[in-house]
Amino acid sequence: MPQFGEEFLTELRNRCDIVSIVSRYVDLKKRSSSFVGLCPFHNEKTPSFHVHPAKQMFYCFGCHAGGDVITFIMKSENLTYPEAVHFLADSVGLHVPKTTAIDSEISSLRKKIFEMNRVAARYFHDTLMSDAGKPGLEYLQKRALTPQSIVRFGLGYAPESWDSLIKYMRSQGYTDNDLKSAGLVSVSEQSGKDTSSRTRIFDKFRNRVMFPIIDYRNNIIGFGGRTLADDPAKYLNSPENIVFRKGENLYAINYARTNKLGALILVEGYMDVIALHQAGFNSAVATLGTALTPAQARLMKRFTDKIIICYDSDAAGKNATRRAIEILKNVDLDVKVVTVTGGKDPDEFIKAYGADKFRALLDGSSNDIEYKLGEITFKYNLEIDSEKAACVREYLGVIAGIKNRVEREVYIDKIARETGLTKENLTAELDTLIRRKVAEEKKNEEKKVYTSLSGTGNGYLSRKNISVSRAEGDVISLILNFPQKLDEIEKLISPDDFLTDFNKRVYTVLCEKLRENPSSQPHLMLSSLFEPDEVGVLMGYITEVGAFSVDGEEVRAVADRLKAEKKKKEAAGAISDTGFQQYLEDLKKKGK
Ligand code: CTP
Ligand code: MN
Repeated sequence: MPQFGEEFLTELRNRCDIVSIVSRYVDLKKRSSSFVGLCPFHNEKTPSFHVHPAKQMFYCFGCHAGGDVITFIMKSENLTYPEAVHFLADSVGLHVPKTTAIDSEISSLRKKIFEMNRVAARYFHDTLMSDAGKPGLEYLQKRALTPQSIVRFGLGYAPESWDSLIKYMRSQGYTDNDLKSAGLVSVSEQSGKDTSSRTRIFDKFRNRVMFPIIDYRNNIIGFGGRTLADDPAKYLNSPENIVFRKGENLYAINYARTNKLGALILVEGYMDVIALHQAGFNSAVATLGTALTPAQARLMKRFTDKIIICYDSDAAGKNATRRAIEILKNVDLDVKVVTVTGGKDPDEFIKAYGADKFRALLDGSSNDIEYKLGEITFKYNLEIDSEKAACVREYLGVIAGIKNRVEREVYIDKIARETGLTKENLTAELDTLIRRKVAEEKKNEEKKVYTSLSGTGNGYLSRKNISVSRAEGDVISLILNFPQKLDEIEKLISPDDFLTDFNKRVYTVLCEKLRENPSSQPHLMLSSLFEPDEVGVLMGYITEVGAFSVDGEEVRAVADRLKAEKKKKEAAGAISDTGFQQYLEDLKKKGK
């Protein structure tokens, strides 16, 4: 550090106005001097995400994410600081001047893994097309994949061998360590005759059809491999590493994202995706062998507002559908559900009945509420009073989740008709439910916020220690807002006046950097000095704790307060993070 020149960074900031960059990810509404929207970093229904054009920063009051435009891109695109700078520069056509250590170690490793995955994918594909690939090709033909699909998805074959990929990759100049970090090999402890033990690597994927997993920027981030033998692990995925995070990516999103039809179709498996694309439904995506996550829902939200869930029609598929609906609705996606009949999964359905019948299924899909009500109706016999009561309770539970009052009324009408109960009674019961739900959600949200803070080293920002928090936060706000008063501040406040390691470090670093490099807007230096989560906490100091209202004339008052708080805590023998730990324990107990 600093990796980029001041002049260049200033130019970059001028070209990358935070409001216009954030608008690519978040639907922002103007509200007096700032913009607000739904936070892209946590799930919420009412907007607590603020963007301040004057300060060129963002802050979420819900999850305490915050920072400048570079922090925003680091978090949104999951990039390191230098990568985010390059990303932004590229997006506005700005040339990044050459500096010495421009690529941090981590971003060059990331690049190397992408490159190795590309080389391996080509190797698997070439193998599939060669004599050695016969078992794989026969299997794919049996599954009715066309040659075009095989090429389009870059499918391949990993032969039944312990080291064919290893040999090939070595011949291409990669070391065993490279292969390990890309997750292309497995490692075993091997004990030799002389009782010495050493490790050995072997091909991770053997006798499997290979599905390269490609992110929306067209990087191959990992592989899924389907066994052709009777391996109990039918599908095997690359292990998680710095480029492969199962919960944050979707299979085929690289193709589906450009689909202009609107809805993304969410299916369970790789084969379902390919079968659908082959039949002309090129907006199908799948999770990577895990249940749908909020991060995946947010990824979809970037490309569409509508999702059609099309999971298997077995019990597991139904459970997964119910959970996926919640997760998708939480990021405000419009959800429909297709129930595949007559076949177990979409792949089999298309094979049995063809694309037109599948199109008809899509057209007849029910919205999330209809789907859920239908599932409930299916479980009960409304002729029996006790079942009817239970059924109505479940109905109302679903309806309580609808935000729109008119829409709620439509379904209340429907249920009244179906059950013969009065609308008045149903509505009264519904109101009680909604009140309870709102209270519960509020409690959960609070819990999440404090839990998320525990990882930042800012442990004491609990209510019990709010006065210390204010004092320390105010000092940091002071420097960030009145850097011209650095001399005065440093004269009155020493790093040892801070109770917590985190704030002490921040104070020390900020003073040092400002001395080296005076800046009129020090809050814009934070992204290059601290981790994104830490930047969020600091933005919290400016925005919540001290606000931009700390008065520059009051350096002495702020310093006195800090010293007084420290004395008080020391006298009480309760220093730093313990109070927060206790707070978390309390929350946990209450939650039970
Ligand atoms: N999956 C997995 N590990 C398994 C089984 C499944 O990771 N042992 C994941 C894979 O992503 C797979 C998806 O779950 O694509 C769906 O599983 P399943 O329904 O068994 O897959 P199909 O695509 O129907 O498998 P097949 O190749 O037999 O059609
Ligand atoms: Mn299948």
